[in-house]
Amino acid sequence: MEAAVGAPKAVILVGGEGTRLRPLTLGTHKSMVPVLNRPFLEHLLEHLKEHGIQEVVLALRHLHHQLLDYFGDGSAFGIALHYVVEDSPLGTAGAVKNAGHFLDDTCFVINGDIYTDLDLTAMLEFHRQRGAMATIALTHVEDVSSYGVVEIGVGSRVRRFLEKPHPSQTSAQTINAGTYILEPQVLDLVPPGQPYMFETGLFPALLSAGWPLFGHPSSCYWIDIGTPQRYLSLNHHLLHLRQSAAGHSQSHSIWSDDGCYVHPTAQVVGPILMGEGCRIGAGARVEGPSILGVGCSVEPGARVVGSILWAQARVEAGAVVEKSVLARGCCVGSRAHTTSGCVLGDETSVPPGSRLEPGTLVWPETPPEKLS
Ligand code: GTP
Repeated sequence: MEAAVGAPKAVILVGGEGTRLRPLTLGTHKSMVPVLNRPFLEHLLEHLKEHGIQEVVLALRHLHHQLLDYFGDGSAFGIALHYVVEDSPLGTAGAVKNAGHFLDDTCFVINGDIYTDLDLTAMLEFHRQRGAMATIALTHVEDVSSYGVVEIGVGSRVRRFLEKPHPSQTSAQTINAGTYILEPQVLDLVPPGQPYMFETGLFPALLSAGWPLFGHPSSCYWIDIGTPQRYLSLNHHLLHLRQSAAGHSQSHSIWSDDGCYVHPTAQVVGPILMGEGCRIGAGARVEGPSILGVGCSVEPGARVVGSILWAQARVEAGAVVEKSVLARGCCVGSRAHTTSGCVLGDETSVPPGSRLEPGTLVWPETPPEKLS
């Protein structure tokens, strides 16, 4: 599809390996992990469309065919998509430089693992009003020690960058929120064909060269899905939002696609989202916020609490799945128990009667002694 003339484009950076989200990302591209039973990237594209962006470049590397197979040229999603595949990691700024042939005007650059309701229209207006060469979206956090801090001064001009600072180094609580607006000229400062980062390369270079570089603070909702815990939190947040938007009570916040079956003696306490063809057996209990992907089954007497099950996951009779994430085709054996924070990669089986301690990560090659 053709994009309207003058509408800004966006580059989405989706070339990282998603190591912290393993084992979920062992077989699934990080941007394809399901959020409310749809790929994360689909939510991101919707947000961009709401702000008038009609053309997006996906800068990526491994598992790129997963995005291509699902999104194609974007026309089914109402947005034009281009794919730029890197042979080796070029870093965040290097990846944008590599997609430079698509970028002839002001453009957004978005980290592909961030969910936010940031007002991109207001950010673009901010950027234009100040005549910025680059604008960085900023969000506020209490503890900055694991983030890139951006200190701003008069008129929101960037004063200093500090990567993962000790609290004694700064009183600023504004961090880089992973959304930028760039004028195409700034890409001239990025060396071609080699790894180069925004945070440690391009932005400090712009600052020391005195280019107009601004920080745009906002109090938007912001979360990165970099870790299983945050991935779970985002899904819970969105289910609660859907519940309050619908004005439903907990017991009525149950959304199920075609072909689901809930046994009359089963208990389902919302908010719950069920994909097509899920089955909940006699005496089973599913407590929200939980999400069941297509074709999941929760067998008689089993319990699922605050968890996410990807497609075709099975929880056998009497098993308990608590605040856990089960990727595609997993099976929790009868009377087994996955406790808070457990994450199972695709096609993992948990032996009947076993108990996984909180935070255990499991995938099919996990040594059996860890599963007993
Ligand atoms: P971890 O391995 O867990 O750190 O995950 P990640 O590399 O996906 O995340 P990180 O926070 O390091 O990167 C932020 C965003 O930039 C993510 O959306 C990545 O996909 C993307 N990114 C990081 N490095 C590259 C790169 O070399 N090329 C491209 N195209 N994107 C990148």
